[in-house]
Amino acid sequence: MTESPTPSSAPELFSWEFASNPYPAYAWLREHAPVHRTTLPSGVEAWLVTRYADARQALADPRLSKNADHHDEPSHAKGKTGIPGERKAELTTHLLNIDPPDHTRLRRLVSKAFTPRRVAEFAPRVQQLTDDLIDAFATKGEADLIHDFAFPLPIYAICDLLGVPREDQDDFREWAGMMIRHGGGPRGGVGRAVKRIRAYLVDLIHRKRGALTDDLISDLIRASDHGEHLTENEVAAMCFVLLLAGFETTVNLIGNGTHALLRDQEQMRKFRAAAAQGDTSVLDAAVEELLRYDGPVEFATWRFATQPLEIGGQRIATGEPVLVVLAAANRDPARFEHPDVLDLDRRTNPHLGYGHGIHYCLGAPLARLEARTALATLMDRFPDLKLAADPAELRWRGGLIMRGLRSLPVSFTP
Ligand code: HEM
Repeated sequence: MTESPTPSSAPELFSWEFASNPYPAYAWLREHAPVHRTTLPSGVEAWLVTRYADARQALADPRLSKNADHHDEPSHAKGKTGIPGERKAELTTHLLNIDPPDHTRLRRLVSKAFTPRRVAEFAPRVQQLTDDLIDAFATKGEADLIHDFAFPLPIYAICDLLGVPREDQDDFREWAGMMIRHGGGPRGGVGRAVKRIRAYLVDLIHRKRGALTDDLISDLIRASDHGEHLTENEVAAMCFVLLLAGFETTVNLIGNGTHALLRDQEQMRKFRAAAAQGDTSVLDAAVEELLRYDGPVEFATWRFATQPLEIGGQRIATGEPVLVVLAAANRDPARFEHPDVLDLDRRTNPHLGYGHGIHYCLGAPLARLEARTALATLMDRFPDLKLAADPAELRWRGGLIMRGLRSLPVSFTP
């Protein structure tokens, strides 16, 4: 896929064109204004960090806090910026919004329950879910891969892993849909969905406590560190962050990844060959490259300066928000050869798609398993899968943190 050339003057950020293809704008920023102060669509001013070296450093800088209490916004704007964690509520105080030592304690406890082994044992279930979803549209000759496939797969997967009974999982599908569709801060559809999820989780956790089984919620309740356990509210917030961080990200990794392959026949052939041979190490490297090339997390989540500091030679004052643009860093020519080329054979690929430092994605093993299974099965089942829309007409969601398609129409021989 060829990219448009770098614009010659300062690009307009957050426009419709930008949402469809932000990469030329990021190329301009990396070159001319690598640490750039901008006004976001919400009205909040923030610094955008676009070069790889600066991004990697900022992600691990302990002077940048995840706690929105450090934000210097004027008091009249408090609670209206849409910054998560700003309106303190039980579910929104979670790993992504807290700093050490609380973060260290919670992350250690969840790591005891959400282990790579648990994820590896889950592989047959992910394959089953993938096959069932594909079976439901396989005879039709066409599908919207977001609605019919990428969207339901991660929500059923995380619900199964947590131990949400199957008969309740369609409620989660609906609440997750409300969160994706409505966006727009704590009072709108998101607020309603969060309330319902919270009520459901608190009740489920309470019931599980009486009869622990072999699922992630039971293990979160059991987990202890030096005799310390998670409280019921902490378990609920942990389940919530796993849903929140593990859902739309995976939808978009499957969506953006399929889109990138459909637009590049040569890379698609390579991917199909690896899928046909069941070569997991080649497939895993391919998924990493899809994540670098057009990953689901465009910006890392909010960070705030707790003291004056410099990033890439730019002074940042105490209280100012910093957004690390992972999508820009992952296309930095100073780190990646031919960064705008999708190259599934790329072997050195230290992309920042899962973040870096203490907040590095906790769910990366699950995301890799789901993406590998979903993409390999899809390509294997439909040898002539094609995009059924003009690429220029595809609509991308305009949110700040995530990058993903609203729909991905495809056709194939049933
Ligand atoms: C954190 C990306 C899937 C759970 C992160 C961060 C990134 C990321 C970039 C760091 C954010 C920051 O530093 O501001 C992704 C991508 C995924 C994915 C690209 C899929 C393709 C998942 C899944 C789960 C998950 C499936 C769990 C079920 C988490 C959690 C954190 C996190 C809990 C917070 C960790 C912490 O703050 O200590 N993810 N993620 N993610 N992710 Fe993922």
